[in-house]
Amino acid sequence: ASDSEEKDLVIIGGGVAGYVAAIKAGQAGLKVACIEKRGSLGGTCLNVGCIPSKSLLNNSHLYHQILHDTKQRGIEVEGVSVNLKQMMKAKETSVSGLTKGIEFLFKKNNVEYIKGTGAFQDEHTVAVNLIDGGETTVRAKNIFISTGSEATPFPGLTIDEKKVITSTGAIALQEVPKKMVVIGGGIIGLEMGSVWSRLGAEVTVVEFLGQIGGPGMDAEIAKMTQKMLTKQGMKFKLNTKVTAGDDSGEGVKVNVEAAKGGKEEVLDADVVLVAIGRRPYTAGLGLDNIGLETDERGRIVIDQEYRTKIPHIRAIGDVTFGPMLAHKAEEEAVAAVEYLTKGYGHVNYGAIPSVMYTHPEVAWVGQNEQELKAAGVKYKVGTFPFSANSRAKTNLDTEGIVKFISDANTDRILGIHIVGPNAGEMIAEGTLALEYGASSEGKADHSSNRLEKREADRAADVARTSHAHPTLSEAFKEAAMATYDKAIHY
Ligand code: FAD
Ligand code: NAI
Repeated sequence: ASDSEEKDLVIIGGGVAGYVAAIKAGQAGLKVACIEKRGSLGGTCLNVGCIPSKSLLNNSHLYHQILHDTKQRGIEVEGVSVNLKQMMKAKETSVSGLTKGIEFLFKKNNVEYIKGTGAFQDEHTVAVNLIDGGETTVRAKNIFISTGSEATPFPGLTIDEKKVITSTGAIALQEVPKKMVVIGGGIIGLEMGSVWSRLGAEVTVVEFLGQIGGPGMDAEIAKMTQKMLTKQGMKFKLNTKVTAGDDSGEGVKVNVEAAKGGKEEVLDADVVLVAIGRRPYTAGLGLDNIGLETDERGRIVIDQEYRTKIPHIRAIGDVTFGPMLAHKAEEEAVAAVEYLTKGYGHVNYGAIPSVMYTHPEVAWVGQNEQELKAAGVKYKVGTFPFSANSRAKTNLDTEGIVKFISDANTDRILGIHIVGPNAGEMIAEGTLALEYGASSEGKADHSSNRLEKREADRAADVARTSHAHPTLSEAFKEAAMATYDKAIHY
């Protein structure tokens, strides 16, 4: 269909990276086409990732709260039960509303949507195997690769998305399993483990490292979070590795042993969730045809402007370096199109927030204590517990803390870590502060070094900014205060 006209830009993969780039390019007046093989736009995030998982997290939390947290609020409820079919339907409604919304935005911005699987024929031509049958080729001056990522499989266990599942199966189970073993205590393991634990499954998380949440999470915050999730009923085996699995019987057997070797144990489960990370996806893309290689972790190698070694071919999102997050993919998409159309773009990789949508939520931006220690940076810490925050107390939702880490000399903010109610919304203020080079207080009286003083004076002050009362964000302000002085309410 598109053989005749050459495009300014063709994008392979219509996930967050690809669809945002397509819209941005359309807005800039480029002739653009986006190839997507799924039959639906929005990629992993909208179809089987961010959106469906948050729908289930929200509704399973409501259910759990109604079961366990209404009496003290003066609300008597009876006969509460889960209608899993309806919960899944609510999830599907959110997903289809959003993915169709992107099709509408494509039309609005003159983006051609090609439904099919794309593969490089040569450096300027992509062959597309169309979903509706047949083939076509598209020629383009520029090509973006945004083919995303896939779940890393666990050797010895065959994923059937029913008994041995990835996150894709975990958002679509048709009944609540009795026993679920989760391999990997990272973000997917904890979010999806939370969902099924709240709905009644006995969930055991096996994690190789000595902390949950993956290496980015501050160790102190991870420890507190683990306590809270344990209280909710989840079980954890840290410093433990899965050595083998057997899915030949009715259920699944999982062999685990201490990470450093030693004690062995066999765990029985109805369902095993494999959540040991994701890897870039480039299968069938024909990279060989154009001589493009991936690194040892399967990532497409790019320069600062997202260019591969073939300069008119760029790669963005999960398929290349950096954290595998939707908002990171989105930033890169905008920047890559701007590099193309204007010659410059901006992504600050030091200020990309992370949020884990459990209850309470965990959110952070910048560096954590263990990273700063390893780098030998001198820092100071201020914390404030939600148990001393008026709004959290009013809401009877007081678990968690805000933790500020600032440079010991300049007061500049290095990292902000929150576990607590609405942490995911609150971290936006921290991200803005970090992006602006703000400091906790912003006054450098305590420094005798003129350069340091100027550095700190230039910056904005979190602790000296008025925060509305009563809000959870006052805990944020008071944690900033606690880095150089005492908090008022604690
Ligand atoms: P993808 O979204 O994976 O999109 C790539 C698209 O390319 C896919 O639709 C695929 O079908 C298509 N494709 C691949 N090869 C071809 C080809 N040859 N031809 C045509 N099309 C092709 N991130 C967050 O920031 N917040 C969250 O809350 C969050 N929750 C998540 C929950 C889960 C369960 C999972 C798995 C991930 C979650 N993520 C979250 C991560 C987020 O989904 C990804 O970072 C994001 O989707 C990356 O976008 P992308 O466009 O690079 O890749
Ligand atoms: P992850 O990298 O977050 O966590 C994987 C965990 O598995 C690590 O803690 C690792 O130590 C552990 N592990 C690895 N091999 C193991 C083994 N053999 N035995 C026991 N433990 C083992 O990966 P995850 O949770 O699969 O998520 C993938 C990515 O998806 C995330 O890194 C994130 O980028 C994205 N995501 C983001 C979400 C969000 O932003 N809220 C939600 C879900 C996913």
